[in-house]
Amino acid sequence: MSTLADRPENPVVGLRAAHESAALHVTGAAMYTDDIAEQTAGVLTAWPVQSTNAHAKVTIDVSGAYEVPGVVRVLTAEDVPGLNDAGIRNDEPLFPSEAMFYGHALVWVLGETQEAARLGAERVTVEYEPLPSLITVQDALDAQSFQGTPRTVQRGDAAAGLAASAHVFEGVTEFGGQEHFYLETHASFAIRDSEGQYFIQCSTQHPTETQDLVSHVLGIPANEITVQCLRMGGGFGGKEMQPHGFAAIAALGAKLTGRPVRLRLNRTQDITMTGKRHPFHIAWKVGFDEHGLLQALDTTLTCDGGWSIDLSEPVLGRALCHLDNSYWIPNVHAYGQIVKTNKTSNTAYRGFGGPQGVFLIEDILGRIAPQLGIDPLELRRRNFYKPGQSTPYGQLMKDADRLETIWDQLADEAEVDARREEIRAFNASSPHAKRALSMTPIKFGISFNFAAFNQAGALVHVYKDGSILVNHGGTEMGQGLHTKMLQVAATALGVELHQVRLAPTRTDKVPNTSATAASSGADLNGGAVKNACEQIRDRLAKVAGRMLGVDERDVRFGGGFVTALGAPVKRVSWGEVVKAAYFQRVQLFAAGYYRTEGLHWNPEIMQGSPFKYFAYGAAATEVEVDEFTGAYRVRRVDIVHDVGDSLSPMLDIGQIEGAYVQGVGWLTLEELRWDTSDGPHRGRLQTQSASTYKLPSFSEMPEEFHVRLFENAREEGAVYGSKAVGEPPFMLAFSAREALRDAVAAFGPAGHSVDLGSPATPEAVFWAVRTAQEAAAGVPDAAADGSSGTASSGAASSGTASSGTGAPASDRPLVSAAGD
Ligand code: MTE
Ligand code: MOS
Repeated sequence: MSTLADRPENPVVGLRAAHESAALHVTGAAMYTDDIAEQTAGVLTAWPVQSTNAHAKVTIDVSGAYEVPGVVRVLTAEDVPGLNDAGIRNDEPLFPSEAMFYGHALVWVLGETQEAARLGAERVTVEYEPLPSLITVQDALDAQSFQGTPRTVQRGDAAAGLAASAHVFEGVTEFGGQEHFYLETHASFAIRDSEGQYFIQCSTQHPTETQDLVSHVLGIPANEITVQCLRMGGGFGGKEMQPHGFAAIAALGAKLTGRPVRLRLNRTQDITMTGKRHPFHIAWKVGFDEHGLLQALDTTLTCDGGWSIDLSEPVLGRALCHLDNSYWIPNVHAYGQIVKTNKTSNTAYRGFGGPQGVFLIEDILGRIAPQLGIDPLELRRRNFYKPGQSTPYGQLMKDADRLETIWDQLADEAEVDARREEIRAFNASSPHAKRALSMTPIKFGISFNFAAFNQAGALVHVYKDGSILVNHGGTEMGQGLHTKMLQVAATALGVELHQVRLAPTRTDKVPNTSATAASSGADLNGGAVKNACEQIRDRLAKVAGRMLGVDERDVRFGGGFVTALGAPVKRVSWGEVVKAAYFQRVQLFAAGYYRTEGLHWNPEIMQGSPFKYFAYGAAATEVEVDEFTGAYRVRRVDIVHDVGDSLSPMLDIGQIEGAYVQGVGWLTLEELRWDTSDGPHRGRLQTQSASTYKLPSFSEMPEEFHVRLFENAREEGAVYGSKAVGEPPFMLAFSAREALRDAVAAFGPAGHSVDLGSPATPEAVFWAVRTAQEAAAGVPDAAADGSSGTASSGAASSGTASSGTGAPASDRPLVSAAGD
């Protein structure tokens, strides 16, 4: 592609366009899957019968359901003509004979109304023959219950590196999962037409895989199934792999009844049936030299996959590839394994394992800095990658200098030094409330580790009247992908934004699509849309050249007009050129294609260059913590983030703000609690709704929030120089967790290492404050680790005692186990 085409004169990319559905979103007029279903005459509703046992053989009697008026059919395992499997790895029976978790859908009842289906489901009887169940990661480790393939990332010699380190620490870092809590729950709607083909509207990030799965379950070829996704009310990764089974239920219902079938989970069903972010248990040993430079990391990551494998392997892979975050660690040995538990099957969630990897190193640096006697911000900056260095998995750190540039720009613009001075003064005179300001960086690799996913297609139509319709393989979940694609098409064709429309994503328009995931929606589909548009534009250039009497190479498209280079007064409108082209029998539509070049990856040894580029950013968060309750406020947030040359600045800033707040939710508020007792509800998720699962809301928004896009950041070889934005800023939220840690430290003596429970709820913060105060009061064990420079493990080892949950008083030692 020519440089000229890549740097158009009047680009529509880069303009602050509003989301194409903004007006529909805010007025409530935007249609979602179940709205479409509701408008369909004769539609049946599907309702699940869910297991009330975490692990048991089940014997099911559905006859009672048929006594309920309005029940049309109960779907069971015997009804499946193809493969009884809801996953793509063949480990997720769609109709199980063994309930694998509390809430597992066993059979589905179809009713004339939702009420009929629900009452019918209540009449289905299930006999449980209980089996031993594993709820916590520790349960699974004790039982050696693993799934998938363990992986190791290795560079240098971690053992030798540790042996040679001036300071060695070890500890455990543990944190929980996160519920996606998309506003629109899982929904599917299926119609079987007179030819026996299926049309499925589904809230899916991965229409092609939904199509594949329905094809397996029904035992028919993919070309008889069309999957459409108009839009989603949020996906966040939760609809990358988990919608397929629901689509298959709707399709199977449509097959057996000949009627349209809708399926929409209510909130409690969604939260108890579908997977979440993976919780991790991580044991680590880290070595630093006398200047605080990282020398070696030896670590074992155990992630909780839940009852089936789903995307756990690639999620673990991304965690292993992000535990360096922005830091050079010469010797690394990182072993990753997946346990199998009797809980929902954990899945993709914004960052896809990346945040879990970053958690480890940020937790280490935050805990160890006081023990090294180095300011945590200085410790971070000192360890940044330098140009020429490469990651533990062998990828050269392109633009590594950007880490320092962004960091210093942020520190400057957010007046970090001056504010930290003020904070020190404030803390000195405020015994019961302490403030802190912390900064954390992010480096996030962009591309799917799975090479085949790094391709995309598009179909662009220009109608005779000059209007343009764009189809592409990506899905819209609120992130603004469709708006960006409109901007890309308008730029490539040289028209105005209002001349382009976007059609719903459909597998019969663009086949073999990749999941809209890994933040790569705009990179991949943008490449394909641009390619299709450029084919059309090149054909039109010939037509316009003749109209303007110039060589086709001198034709320029822009703003809805076609002009000749050097003679701007001579111009024809886009519509006139299109009309002329039609009468000259010039093809006015094109299929576009894009594939990411230059990737290579060996998943066996976890080495290669899996990423096209890295997205960089940094955040500075200031918090205030209250001694008596552990409650805190986020006073101010400043972010500088690298999106390359932004395709759509307003959308990108929205993504950065939203990702940051969602990350703060995971790190400080959102806590999934499962019944771990041996009682009748063992394995039941106790936080099943917004009343018990605390989400960030307006009241948790930072009081001051400044987001800046890093300037002059053009990324060569990506669509119009832009970078992916969807996931990386999620990890900027670590600055909030680190600020909380530093504010807690202000209650303790100098050099006190704060081990903060996760999520850092007010309860967890309260207990950390207590521990810090005890250290200040000279309670022996708690203060023992203020010294630096010991070669033994420091306070960090106390992590085993406390991290994981905001532990209630009863199982929390009043004096930390530090130094034991
Ligand atoms: N933004 C909104 N509003 N809703 C979402 O569901 N999903 C995130 C991110 N931003 C999401 C979102 C996730 S997990 C990903 S991978 C990207 O958007 C996917 O879209 P993209 O590739 O077009 O950035
Ligand atoms: Mo995003 S977790 O890659 O859907």
